[in-house]
Amino acid sequence: MRITVCLGDSCHLKGTRQVAQTLQRLIAENDLKDEIDLGGTFCMGHCKTGVSVTLDDNYYSLSPETTEAFFRTEVLPRVKR
Ligand code: FES
Repeated sequence: MRITVCLGDSCHLKGTRQVAQTLQRLIAENDLKDEIDLGGTFCMGHCKTGVSVTLDDNYYSLSPETTEAFFRTEVLPRVKR
């Protein structure tokens, strides 16, 4: 599974760093380093909405406050164990 976080300027101002750090922490806490490939990309063209994130081919708009909920509701259920 691949999670990609937008590294463009607009998203950066909305908290890319915190979103990426939270994802990194949650991946480590859940011992999912082998399952989840966390990466960055340039502007995805959704600059107005929030911190743009894709999970495989699905697009999400996150903020530092919603990242943990996103991980629990969208990421964890998809992980094959
Ligand atoms: S800067 Fe993130 S979508 Fe444009």
